[in-house]
Amino acid sequence: MMKQPHKNIRKADTLNKDFYLNPKYFLQTRDNIFRKAWHWGIWDSELNAERNVMPMILLEDYLDTAVVLSRQASGVKVFSNVCTHRAALVCSKPGQYRQLVCPYHGRQFDLNGQFLKMPGFSEALNFPRDCENLAPLKSDFWGGFHFISEQAGIPFEEWIEPVRSRMKFFPMQDLIPEPSMFKHYTIKAHWALYCDNYLEGFHIPFVHPALNSTIAYSLYRDELFPFGTLQTGFAKPGELAFDLPPDSPDSGGPPVAAYYFWLFPNLMLNFYPWGLSVNIVCPVKPDLTRVEYRGYVCRPDLLHKGAGGDLNQVEMEDEAVVESVQKGIKSALYPGGRFSPEKEPGVHHFHRLLANFLQNT
Ligand code: FES
Ligand SMILES: [Fe+2]
Repeated sequence: MMKQPHKNIRKADTLNKDFYLNPKYFLQTRDNIFRKAWHWGIWDSELNAERNVMPMILLEDYLDTAVVLSRQASGVKVFSNVCTHRAALVCSKPGQYRQLVCPYHGRQFDLNGQFLKMPGFSEALNFPRDCENLAPLKSDFWGGFHFISEQAGIPFEEWIEPVRSRMKFFPMQDLIPEPSMFKHYTIKAHWALYCDNYLEGFHIPFVHPALNSTIAYSLYRDELFPFGTLQTGFAKPGELAFDLPPDSPDSGGPPVAAYYFWLFPNLMLNFYPWGLSVNIVCPVKPDLTRVEYRGYVCRPDLLHKGAGGDLNQVEMEDEAVVESVQKGIKSALYPGGRFSPEKEPGVHHFHRLLANFLQNT
């Protein structure tokens, strides 16, 4: 049982460090949190006139849930890509399909994942049953992107609402994927240590001197939502900032350099005047994490400027400190720590959410 940190941050201890070290919790987290969570799927235009079907794997090396996204007149459907005969992957590459045919023994499905027919089964009794269909997953849509969940244990609208409402001024429809910004980093640390680090700006002056020179650290702001947080980085005078409309809650205040959203458990949406940088934190092992970066640009003329100017440098600095924490947390001489009430409300919120999901399932 994972004890929940005290709700009063001024009294709370950090999450029991067993969470990061014991493989039991790593597996429990997969089943009790990640299977309920929403996952970043695809940009809507990835399914188009030349390509109505796309396979993908949700959190490869952790969930390993093979799915197919299929464009239908009614929207995008998502279902299992695992053949209901003997588990071969049905679809191996994106393309234009009229139906899906398993390459192993020829079982056929329509583009909703419904079983159509199969050779060699004319003698089978009680066949086909409903379970011959490819299992459906939940999907939802926001800002030109599709999200996928196995169990939808978190209400999508409540999860995405803080981003939707705060960023309604942002031209999501103009975002274009920038291939050079699709990359991944491998970090020798637990996935939640990477999130812990992301969830506080406390370390910025210590760890990120170049970033710190562009933002007004004393104004850095945290907001908490039921399933996420928003950190706002304000621009120093003369640094690049958003052009905010009058109905933005931040209009008239200090200029905003970056909005850093984190959505429980592992999605980071970093908005800059040039566009959106997405970080997907993928657990691999209790001490190994892959962070997938995806960049979508709406104002290429503003790239490489301001708080979102050198993301690779910031990433290298974060990785070094997170790997240091991974080493330190293993020491028997570290029993756990406390939170800064002023600077670490996001980390406290994350730890309480983790414990809550592990307790209630
Ligand atoms: S595994 Fe697909 S038809 Fe046999
Ligand atoms: Fe950082």
